[in-house]
Amino acid sequence: MKILCIGDIYGEPGRKAVELFVNPMKQSGEIDFVIANAENSADGAGITENIAKELFKNGCDVLTCGDHVFDRRKEIEEFIKKDARLLRPANFPKIAPGQGSCVVESKGIKIGVIHVAGQVFMRFHFSSPFISVDEELEKVRGQGASVVVVDMHAEATSEKAAISWYLDGRVSAVVGTHTHVQTADERVSEKGTACLTDLGMTGPYDSVIGAEKEAIIQRFLTQMNIRKTVAKNDVRFSGALVTVDDRTGRALSIERVHKKVIK
Ligand SMILES: [Fe+2]
Ligand SMILES: [Fe+2]
Repeated sequence: MKILCIGDIYGEPGRKAVELFVNPMKQSGEIDFVIANAENSADGAGITENIAKELFKNGCDVLTCGDHVFDRRKEIEEFIKKDARLLRPANFPKIAPGQGSCVVESKGIKIGVIHVAGQVFMRFHFSSPFISVDEELEKVRGQGASVVVVDMHAEATSEKAAISWYLDGRVSAVVGTHTHVQTADERVSEKGTACLTDLGMTGPYDSVIGAEKEAIIQRFLTQMNIRKTVAKNDVRFSGALVTVDDRTGRALSIERVHKKVIK
């Protein structure tokens, strides 16, 4: 089973990159299953029902989010209650709509996807992702998942690396999202858990992590809340390809994916 994990899809340029690459990669047999982080897919902040549907149509099988999940609350609240393939971090307050894990069948294999968020340097007070991830793991195993991938949405590399070792040998892969910058620390442990602490951003790189540079420079200079807009240029598609042994659920390899969209 070849699973493509896509890092934070940023605005329309990121969505166009998904449209360009994902279904063709599926059709060519390069990948079987796709997990994409979509917390910035609507104008750089949040996700809407229409955008979620567009990403599913363009080949994504499960969508994860993060701290920005409800930035467009009115346009996603009802949909996230209905469609189990759209996740919010499991360690959000239980009262928030949506779920932190799901099980989806692909080619006869049950794949569990778990989404948690970090506590270090995050703007919300998430409960412990370590405790949440155990609860969700029990849930997806109970639903028969033999392959399990975790999206740990966090700022600190240390917290993401720590959770990958906490889950060592218990899940197929732990991938990180949120920083929008791909790390170069991919590895498969001896016990068969793949890890890359950040998948990077799928969106415009002629930017400050997706947004037009000038507004962000002015924000830092003036400390005023200047409106940011989605940048346009140097669009790239970023993530990782994890190959998993279907029978054992162990990861066999992990490769970084980072391609430019040539106009
Ligand atoms: Fe993000
Ligand atoms: Fe985030």
